[in-house]
Amino acid sequence: MCSLLGIEVPIIQAPIGSATNPALAAAVSNAGGLGMLALSWRDPDEIRPMIRETRERTDRPFGVNLGLAWPQDARLAVCLEEDVRIVSFFWGPPDRYTDAAHAAGATVLHTIASVAEAKRAVDAGVDAVVAQGWEAGGHIWGTVATLPLVPAVVDAVSPTPTVAAGGFADGRGLAAALALGAAGVWMGTRFLASREAAVHDLYKHRVRQAAETDTLYSHLFDLGWPDAPHRTLRNSTVERWEAAGRPEPGGRPGEGEAVAHFADGGAVERYSDVIPLPEMTGAVEALALYAGQSVGLISEIQPAGDIVAEVANEARSVLERLARPR
Ligand SMILES: Cc1cc2nc3c(=O)[nH]c(=O)nc-3n(C[C@H](O)[C@H](O)[C@H](O)COP(=O)(O)O)c2cc1C
Repeated sequence: MCSLLGIEVPIIQAPIGSATNPALAAAVSNAGGLGMLALSWRDPDEIRPMIRETRERTDRPFGVNLGLAWPQDARLAVCLEEDVRIVSFFWGPPDRYTDAAHAAGATVLHTIASVAEAKRAVDAGVDAVVAQGWEAGGHIWGTVATLPLVPAVVDAVSPTPTVAAGGFADGRGLAAALALGAAGVWMGTRFLASREAAVHDLYKHRVRQAAETDTLYSHLFDLGWPDAPHRTLRNSTVERWEAAGRPEPGGRPGEGEAVAHFADGGAVERYSDVIPLPEMTGAVEALALYAGQSVGLISEIQPAGDIVAEVANEARSVLERLARPR
């Protein structure tokens, strides 16, 4: 996978929505991993300068990610015009987008959550699959945990590489993923706790402090993206909803309430799918704090390049220790 993607260590900074930016992606790529820009909701006019800025910050490969819950032809066209070489898709069949990316010479990764879906993606021509387990942070496509999912997908699609996603936050996890037959890891939550991630400090600190038991899999933060299960940290919005007996949309406490504001004054409602951004004001703690169960492994906010180096070094020493004769 490293030669397929042109990287040195098999660590991919997962697309983590609006938390990705050129600084984060370039820091990861400069450290030898693969940085990714998540562009699903960006205005096509915003995409071009983001790609150019990333390229100014690194001469190494980086990728872009597009969620297929929405038509992405215009955004993909801009990425390909800007000569992006690695494209990842999520949440829907990748077929026609894969053809378009391949026609422009790009490598395609696609996130799946079952063996059947992995086979379909490979038949559609994708170059690597990302097997996302249920313990992942953010929006979750399937219901199988990473440990049983990854080796089953590896067996089904090999020699097409499988990248393991969901629950990886350190070098032990990378070594374990390699032991399962994966070609590398796709880490989201760990990179939220990076200095470069474009999220509010409160969110980073909640990620740093949370335990592995502090996340919830639900459909709760559904404004902007309905019927899409996701994993978030438990916060005041979750607690109020649970205290009210987990009512359905329409009957949830505080619906329609503006809990925070963007820098331009625009309101962010309770139950919105928007994450706390650095310049937001108000009760940002009540917004969707997407995070995976790997939060329990994170105790520091670090430069993203240090995260890549630390994970790679720890994986190397774990693998050496395991290989040593007893
Ligand atoms: C804040 C956040 C935003 C995310 N946004 C996206 C996205 O835009 N596109 C995507 O394919 N996956 C997205 N994901 C899922 C990640 O790419 C990845 O599958 C997940 O973080 C892996 O599990 P981990 O959090 O345990 O590392 C997001 C995850 C988080 C935590």
